[in-house]
Amino acid sequence: MKDNHNFFLRNVWYYALPSDRLKPGKMVARTFLGEPVLLCRSQEGKVFALKDICPHRAVPLSCGRFDGQEVECCYHGWRFNHAGSCTAIPSLVEGQYQDLNRYNIESYEIREKQGNIWIFMPETGKSKSPASAREIPEIPEIPGFGDRPPQLVEVMRFPCFIDHAVLGLMDPAHSPYVHRVWWWRSGQLHDEIKQFDPSPYGFTMRKHQLPANTGKAYRFIGGGIPETEITFQIPGVRVETTTTAKHQVTNLTAITPISETESEVNFAFYWTVPWAGFAKPLIRLLTQAFLGQDRTVVEKQQIGLKHDPVLRLIKDSDVQAQWYYQLKREYARSLAEDRPFVNPVKSELLHWRA
Ligand code: FES
Ligand SMILES: [Fe+2]
Repeated sequence: MKDNHNFFLRNVWYYALPSDRLKPGKMVARTFLGEPVLLCRSQEGKVFALKDICPHRAVPLSCGRFDGQEVECCYHGWRFNHAGSCTAIPSLVEGQYQDLNRYNIESYEIREKQGNIWIFMPETGKSKSPASAREIPEIPEIPGFGDRPPQLVEVMRFPCFIDHAVLGLMDPAHSPYVHRVWWWRSGQLHDEIKQFDPSPYGFTMRKHQLPANTGKAYRFIGGGIPETEITFQIPGVRVETTTTAKHQVTNLTAITPISETESEVNFAFYWTVPWAGFAKPLIRLLTQAFLGQDRTVVEKQQIGLKHDPVLRLIKDSDVQAQWYYQLKREYARSLAEDRPFVNPVKSELLHWRA
């Protein structure tokens, strides 16, 4: 298969930032899908996002000041509010005031949920709002945690296009090679048979008991035999929930394209296990090590991808990768043709060795 799918999916929510990395009255400059975005949190705690380019002479607004309400450009002091409306141009004198709305800048829809900030990236040239009649993928909700933030968040930059970060995340065959560490699994290969079903804008690996050869770390949860369910939805959101009779551990992994060559892997951990709080430094280290292994192999992959090779997908361990490409293409097509999205995934039992 030729890797000719290098486009960003639009008209979807992307994970922008863990909530606690943006304090009231502060701003932070980011890039999403190649676009410079300024994220601000007002003094009252509300997050908003603006295109980070001054419409006067293009200086990034992030170089200026934020007073907790409005952003002021550092070059000539133009000011913009949470909606991107231009509210002041200091050099204008009495009588020169035209309609300041001519100098408004783009703003982005923002949602904050369970300790995560999400940004809506509209189709270029289309309405910036997701509030149209069209159905779009929902921001995932981690059940059982109310609006509690995650206990632990890790953000890691991968040097690749989003598709490769997503594929690496859902790849069931790489673990024995990439994650061969004592606390996770042995190097021995075993048969795995898992039932998959379509779910909104993606698919779900049906709930199953954790095989004895994987997930050693999860065996410490306590409260019985752990069961796991994994859902995936476009643009790159994976939710893995492991439950025992007593406890729940959920991790949300959301991948956001920064540019054509960089993606951010956001990993948020929610748990009800009481002792896990004490083990947090250790859990953080293990998470970093785990994600680091994925990143290292992606770095190596870049060496080969430079030559634009034809890539082969196989049965059944690459079926999820195929679904990802199909879902992404179908979503883009349904937008272009202005018709409802039709999930291309069918229920299937997948069998592989890992
Ligand atoms: S460049 Fe921003 S105010 Fe002039
Ligand atoms: Fe991995």
